[in-house]
Amino acid sequence: MPKAKAILFDLDGVLTDTSEYHYRAWKQLADEEGIPLTREENDAHLRGVGRRDSLMYIIRDRHYSEEQIQEMMERKNNYYNQLISQMGPDEVVAGGRELLQEIHQAGMKSAVASASKNCRLVLERLQIIDLFDGIADGYSVINGKPAPDIFVFAAGVVQTPVVDCIGVEDADAGIEAIKTAGMYALGVGPKERFKRADKVVPTMENIRLKDILADE
Ligand code: BG6
Ligand code: MG
Repeated sequence: MPKAKAILFDLDGVLTDTSEYHYRAWKQLADEEGIPLTREENDAHLRGVGRRDSLMYIIRDRHYSEEQIQEMMERKNNYYNQLISQMGPDEVVAGGRELLQEIHQAGMKSAVASASKNCRLVLERLQIIDLFDGIADGYSVINGKPAPDIFVFAAGVVQTPVVDCIGVEDADAGIEAIKTAGMYALGVGPKERFKRADKVVPTMENIRLKDILADE
């Protein structure tokens, strides 16, 4: 375990269960287009993956014009926005707020490293935006996870060298990004999901700072 100075959190599926809303929104779009999409496929191929890459996976070799692709991304985003408009502060993972406060009390930094362009909206609905020292979102970098860029960017925002950062992710693409960035990686979910995680917890529920920092 590194002498961590900052913890960089993915948002969807880590601090809140918005990954379920992303799935439901894609599923509605896929149903309308008559394209099969299962929850298992979502878990294996869409979790943590950006909007366009997700749609490319869903449509595979079906032919759509660029205009149709844009319309489908917008349609999915509208469904997603409808779902998150109902969210409130109670949808932060249990103990999440306490964990963020604990990180600050320990003199460490915290940041969000999310691929989502809706990241700030979700943080506002959860009322946790002020608990972070920095935010890196879907507008911050060009190359999405598994590229390391978003985590390197987030480390820069909180002025912490990558070797002193811990990245927290529920997607294997995100763990790849964290490891390629040269950070310690905490996976959230079933162990089998992650190839390169340094440590795995089944859920972020009631995870304390000591659980993150303790050697396995
Ligand atoms: C990630 C989600 O955080 O953000 C993905 O895990 C999502 O499911 C991606 O596709 C992009 O999100 P958005 O809100 O910009 O479409
Ligand atoms: Mg995620």
